[in-house]
Amino acid sequence: MSAAQKLGPSSAKLRLDDKDIDLPIFIGSEGEKAIDVTKLRAETGYVTLDSGYMDTGACTSAITFLDGELGILKYRGYPIEEIAEKSSFLESSYLVFYGKLPSESEYKAFVQRIASFDDIPEGIKQQIKCFPKTAHPMAVLSANLVSLSAWNEDLCTQDLNKDQKDTAIAQLMGQIKVMAAYAYRHSQGKDFIKSDKSLDYCSDFVYMMTGDKNVKKEVAKALDVLLILHVDHEQNCSTSSVRMVGSSKANIFATISAGVDALWGPLHGGANQAVLEMLQEIKDSGKGYEAFLAEVKDKNSGSRLMGFGHRVYKNFDPRAKIIKVACDSVLQTLGVQDPLLDIAKGLEAVALKDEYFVARKLYPNVDFYSGIIYRALGIPTNMFTVMFAMGRLPGWMAQWKEMVEQPGFKICRPRQIYTGDTHNHYVAIKDRK
Ligand code: ACO
Repeated sequence: MSAAQKLGPSSAKLRLDDKDIDLPIFIGSEGEKAIDVTKLRAETGYVTLDSGYMDTGACTSAITFLDGELGILKYRGYPIEEIAEKSSFLESSYLVFYGKLPSESEYKAFVQRIASFDDIPEGIKQQIKCFPKTAHPMAVLSANLVSLSAWNEDLCTQDLNKDQKDTAIAQLMGQIKVMAAYAYRHSQGKDFIKSDKSLDYCSDFVYMMTGDKNVKKEVAKALDVLLILHVDHEQNCSTSSVRMVGSSKANIFATISAGVDALWGPLHGGANQAVLEMLQEIKDSGKGYEAFLAEVKDKNSGSRLMGFGHRVYKNFDPRAKIIKVACDSVLQTLGVQDPLLDIAKGLEAVALKDEYFVARKLYPNVDFYSGIIYRALGIPTNMFTVMFAMGRLPGWMAQWKEMVEQPGFKICRPRQIYTGDTHNHYVAIKDRK
């Protein structure tokens, strides 16, 4: 069911420079309220100032809804809990990109089309081999993605038609898996392994990484759920980067590569790797939780409790809840005992009772436990953020498609308030002090 977004019955009144201005109210289909300021500057000369976009809605979107206070996340109106339990990564990718659950034949065609992109150009394979073995796989992935534009000029035209968009999502979902696995193989000094179309998406990825075709059902299923949980998360940093870059009509490969770059940062997707490194450090140093948390709470230390806190979730992150349960079950099924899981649980329990975290509404986010599952599944630490990128790709594609198809589409170009010098005059270099 979808309720149409609508302009509210009343407008907001703003009194500025002794003048009353009416600003339309916009109400979303889940009741979110916004003041529409698109005419503010033209009518008043003022712009809004909102560093970090804390209170700015950059777009309207019908893809993902999240309520940070209640801990709700829905893809196209479907609760994440239902999708994670009943759907698959490829089906939820179809859902966010096309806006509806596929019929059987649509789903089959989508899966087959993705599987048909089971290889990457020879030049990209050579490019991967040119990277130092120590290169972070996110660097390799970002470079590979933007390089794909050189081999796909037909998809680099300014406005893609429906067929080209269908090709772009299938091609990128097929090839990101190959590029990610090959980046890993190269870092290990190992030869590339050809994709096997008879395997499901996640099993094929693990096969290309490890060479083992007998991927356990539980491993493939756990990976699939993790990818589902990452599919989309409305206007986060990487998705906003995708919209920003795509709004200049940069080609789709450059646009998605920008999303990978933004995701890499430790305050965003890079947190999953940072969490594991943090847990390992706590273990190696023998520091107690209290000592570590004291360090985190000291603003001069520069350290944070990685995997905790979220710009929007101020109660709990529903993805973290699902992952925590999955984590216990995966480790039990695989018979893995990981001391880092005990440390994570201990740390969480202490932090959730600590006044510092309670007052700031800081809870475990999606990255707190995901790394422990990846580790149990045999995915190396520096591949964690790559896994996130694979999961988020369909969301980026859906957000880009929605943006370019929206009536009134415009390049994204925020304003600023200049605070620098105002009246300098040029002085020749020899005369400068
Ligand atoms: N550890 C310690 N203190 C924290 C943490 C943390 N993880 N997160 C926030 N705080 C504190 C801040 O120091 C600040 O305290 P103050 O009010 O005394 O100055 C307050 O909580 C608010 O923090 P902000 O940084 O202003 O919150 P913001 O919404 O800008 O940041 C973010 C959200 C980046 C996720 C932050 O919580 C963080 O750095 N977390 C750790 C990194 C992380 O896990 N990132 C993954 C996020 S999920 C995702 O992107 C997939």
